[in-house]
Amino acid sequence: MCGISGYIGEKNNSIKIVFNILKKLEYRGYDSSGIATIFNKKILIKKSIGKLVNLKKIILKHQIGSNISIGHIRWATHGKPSRNNAHPHTDATKNIAIVHNGVIENYIELKKKYCINDEEIVSDTDTEIIVHIIKKNYKNDLFSAVRNVLREVKGSYAFALICKNEPDRIICAVNESPLVIGVGDKENFIASDVSAILKYTKKIVFLKNGDVAEIKKNNIIIRDIENNIKNMQIKTIKDENCSYIRKNKYKHFMLKEIFEQPYVIKNILKDVICLNKNKNYENEFKFFKNIIKNISYIYIIGCGSSYHSGLIAKLLFENFANIRTEVDIASEFRYRNPILNENTLVIVISQSGETADTLAALRFAKNKKCKTFAICNVMNSSLSREADKTIFTKCGQEIGVASTKAFIGQLVILYLLVFELSNKKGIINNHEFKKIIVELLDVPKKIFKILKNTKSIINIAEKIKGKKNFLYLGRNLNYPIALEGALKLKEISYIHAEGYAAGEMKHGPIALVDKSMIVVFIAIKKSKVYKKIISNIEEIKARNGTIVLITNEKNIEIKNKSDYVIYIPKINDYLSPIISIVPLQLLAYYIGVFKKCDIDHPRNLAKSVTVE
Ligand code: G6P
Repeated sequence: MCGISGYIGEKNNSIKIVFNILKKLEYRGYDSSGIATIFNKKILIKKSIGKLVNLKKIILKHQIGSNISIGHIRWATHGKPSRNNAHPHTDATKNIAIVHNGVIENYIELKKKYCINDEEIVSDTDTEIIVHIIKKNYKNDLFSAVRNVLREVKGSYAFALICKNEPDRIICAVNESPLVIGVGDKENFIASDVSAILKYTKKIVFLKNGDVAEIKKNNIIIRDIENNIKNMQIKTIKDENCSYIRKNKYKHFMLKEIFEQPYVIKNILKDVICLNKNKNYENEFKFFKNIIKNISYIYIIGCGSSYHSGLIAKLLFENFANIRTEVDIASEFRYRNPILNENTLVIVISQSGETADTLAALRFAKNKKCKTFAICNVMNSSLSREADKTIFTKCGQEIGVASTKAFIGQLVILYLLVFELSNKKGIINNHEFKKIIVELLDVPKKIFKILKNTKSIINIAEKIKGKKNFLYLGRNLNYPIALEGALKLKEISYIHAEGYAAGEMKHGPIALVDKSMIVVFIAIKKSKVYKKIISNIEEIKARNGTIVLITNEKNIEIKNKSDYVIYIPKINDYLSPIISIVPLQLLAYYIGVFKKCDIDHPRNLAKSVTVE
């Protein structure tokens, strides 16, 4: 995580520019932030803990004119959020300043080897050691000092450094953490992602692993650690929506994004089935149908909500397209020994396209010669650049840290891939395929209906907001929805919540059940597991658990088995996850609001997790 920004050029408001870039990167972390600049031949550092607004107050107090600055927004890995641990870090003589995104794995060994005394060190971070070592290697050339030190550094990093004796350049280095250079006219920028600098320039250099870059106002040179010059490719970025996203009438981005979900579905369907004569997704589906010909099985990889959409897709691929499908959490997949070969299709799912573990899983799969396909929301993200092909969910920027509309977008794309494949294999005929599309087209209306009636959800949220433990239970396609519902509650309201397969509940979690335990059930009337889930509800009722039931409207037969009911429109079981998640998102949201939690920036979380 963490976000890095930088500016060097003709303008002397570099601090403001670097701050503005950081604002766009705040989704990556918000524990603390800081900026280093060169002013009057000295390095000046301004830091603050908490969100960027706190740093803003400090930089407004000291209006410093400088044409070179680097900045950082932190998500703590080594050392708690504090002023001392906030970046930038400097060596003891304040000659060099560094900002870092990633994790240095061998910083303790390096500290010993270079005899860095504890007295020299002011922070608990892994990063600070690196700047001390670079200073020890420094012989009037920061570029070569950085390259020398990097030979010994193990771990993931995107670094940016400035040196008070060399005020005409920023040095950057990259390994397994993203960093881009924005190429301007007599000015250059750096940032952890493209969208953060598109306001300033559309010409982008994507740094690759092993790149060490020297960035001057008129010139950029990229070398490898051995000092060989590397080719630099400048890409012009198009089609990126850089407009400022507002909350409009909504109190939080999360609520706005929940309400955008019907439009997300409509937009995808409109493009896919060419209602607007737009063949936007044609290539992606063609590619998918082509590569799948020689595929013996699919692996789906993701983290968090993206992993949950993968769990649903596994059931769909196996059920409707008759293809063996495995799903794994990215951080597990990459350290196992999964059976992979050129006949495996690895589908990586990620809203941001920057999640470190998902990216590493993709590279791992590529090394094993698998075919790779990404489902991603952010254009030009690392994942989308590295996968063989990417299909974008086009949900628009998702700001709320807890994923909502991107999850729905992923689901819709996955449903379409499954049914396209099923149709191609002749498992469903054209008529059945069309019927499914018609049913999908009806889903937005059903979600609108839920969104029009949030009152009952708000009432329930108010009544149960004080409870300490929640269990979310579902079966089959709604088991991953139980996981996702529990995740939303944890993220937003800091209440302990567990998602479980309803049938598995009696093998442990049932021991926790008493009247203080809230148990949320998803019971879809037409589902083949409906009767089974009713038995599970009885089991909880018999133990005095407090039941919140999500079921279809007019299903009054189980009303008296539950303490609270949230009705959702009637829907065929196979499509139910797309709508059953909506009341769970709203329930988590309103409980979080009642608990006065920081909905869009929950504590300890970040929107994009760029460290392992
Ligand atoms: C973080 C976010 C989650 C998200 C997960 C995976 O934990 O808070 O909302 O689901 O990362 O992110 P990705 O961008 O890869 O989908």
